[in-house]
Amino acid sequence: MPSEERLQDRLAWLRRLRTVRRFRPDPLPEPALRDILEVARWTGSAKNLQPWEFVVVRDRTMLERLSQLDGFVWHLAGAAAGIVLVMAGDPQRRAQETFDEGRLSERIQLAAWAYGIGSSIGWLVGDGQTEAKRLLGIPPERLVRTTLSLGYPAAGEQPTSVIRGRKPLHELTHYERYGQR
Ligand SMILES: Cc1cc2nc3c(=O)[nH]c(=O)nc-3n(C[C@H](O)[C@H](O)[C@H](O)COP(=O)(O)O)c2cc1C
Repeated sequence: MPSEERLQDRLAWLRRLRTVRRFRPDPLPEPALRDILEVARWTGSAKNLQPWEFVVVRDRTMLERLSQLDGFVWHLAGAAAGIVLVMAGDPQRRAQETFDEGRLSERIQLAAWAYGIGSSIGWLVGDGQTEAKRLLGIPPERLVRTTLSLGYPAAGEQPTSVIRGRKPLHELTHYERYGQR
């Protein structure tokens, strides 16, 4: 059992994981990137199928091009690195893969945060998905939807979610039966 102080530190650290979309230009240290990918590799998945591969993009021209594709990925342009999640794309396992993809994304964000590296999920939509596969040489049958922008947070970066905050716990939680607060 960790000491009370350590426990509270850990919980606060988890609670403080926020989306960062503006970055300093500094590159990510290789050991940090490798550790992030190692944590990603150990993410749990339905039936332990591990239906994923990762394309790490550091090339500035490619990050720029990806950032302009259809979706909400503009922040890739300023990222020190992007990770494009390449999911197996099995149509029979769409729901499981979507869940796995969410877990994977969160782990990558947490591992980055352990290094003080900020991150944002970015979703490619429509033609953006097809075009990303073409640009990165990914087989067309794969599912490419989620990108992660990574980098040290820019000075004064204030995530919009901090301003908007979260719903209070008492509105979200029911004890033993729905409706019992
Ligand atoms: C499934 C999912 C998809 C998201 N897609 C995008 C996106 O396409 N572009 C983006 O900038 N942020 C995206 N986000 C980040 C959310 O906007 C962000 O997590 C939310 O506003 C809460 O902010 P926080 O992460 O700072 O707490 C996505 C998050 C999730 C969980």
